[in-house]
Amino acid sequence: VLPAEVFALLALEPGGVYVDCTAGLGGHAALAAERVAPGGTVVLNDLDAGNLELSRAAVERHESVRVCAFRGSFGELPGRLTEAGLRADAVLADLGFSSNQVDDASRGLSFKRDGPLDMRLDPSSPVTAEELVMTLPEAELADILYRFGEERASRLIARKIVAARRAGPISTTGALAGLVRSVLRGGGGRRGGPSIDPATRTFQALRIAVNDELGHLDAFLASVRHGAASDRGWLRAGARVAVLAFHSLEDRPVKQAFASMAQDGLVERLTRRPTVASEAERASNPRARSAKLRAVRTIGRTGDPGGERIG
Ligand SMILES: C[S@@+](CC[C@H](N)C(=O)[O-])C[C@H]1O[C@@H](n2cnc3c(N)ncnc32)[C@H](O)[C@@H]1O
Repeated sequence: VLPAEVFALLALEPGGVYVDCTAGLGGHAALAAERVAPGGTVVLNDLDAGNLELSRAAVERHESVRVCAFRGSFGELPGRLTEAGLRADAVLADLGFSSNQVDDASRGLSFKRDGPLDMRLDPSSPVTAEELVMTLPEAELADILYRFGEERASRLIARKIVAARRAGPISTTGALAGLVRSVLRGGGGRRGGPSIDPATRTFQALRIAVNDELGHLDAFLASVRHGAASDRGWLRAGARVAVLAFHSLEDRPVKQAFASMAQDGLVERLTRRPTVASEAERASNPRARSAKLRAVRTIGRTGDPGGERIG
């Protein structure tokens, strides 16, 4: 998504260190490898071990680039980079999930494909969507649907789920989607907006809860602040950090965190308003339609031998 715009903002140079927080299928990382070659480093990170290997294969074709791979949350990545003695020139977090994850029915991420109600991006994490749906008290379930799905019918849906689970397990994506559709018979779109599947917001909410997506994002944003404030942290002076968000619950904390860092003189905002996809990309790639790209550049501090001096 938005490759030209991302790399214009990240301004990679040969020999640079590029950190991909969400390597996925390696699309962005392979383009970054071309730009940091020769002599540069590409750091790959993903929660999903399968995607990490796919991205590694995409990048390792560039022989003149050093590749390091970490499996885990990007919230923990800055600490691991510091341990490894790596400092970033450019960082990208392309949030959410990849097409192969949604298309794989066995992961339970899609209401369009019947599969187990799982939704974990990291299969070793403890809680599945089925466990949430089967065990959470009704009020907590409604709260998750409202907060993470912005679902206005959250209480009705939670009540229906709790009534249905008394009769037996809700263990498939098809069963859950059917329940939600039976509550929102009139369709899931908002008045005046495009019509969407009624299950869309419920699935988004559960996916965010199962994967603690906003918690990981907060941890990452706190690390960006910390890195920008420190002379010897994981971000070099002048490092650029870009985030691609796909819904307002992700974009809002990014916008607020970047604004607050700018206010405190730690970064310069490279995007006052989010960059969005061109008409052409929106037409050819549905995922690009909701993408919002924001980026900052850390301000070099005096006394940092590794960075430029500004001001
Ligand atoms: C949209 S895809 C990235 C696509 C990638 N930019 C490309 O060009 O192929 C998002 C990836 O982020 C991973 N992911 C989601 N949450 C994560 C987290 N908290 N930490 C690390 N990776 C995460 C997913 O497993 C998925 O592979």
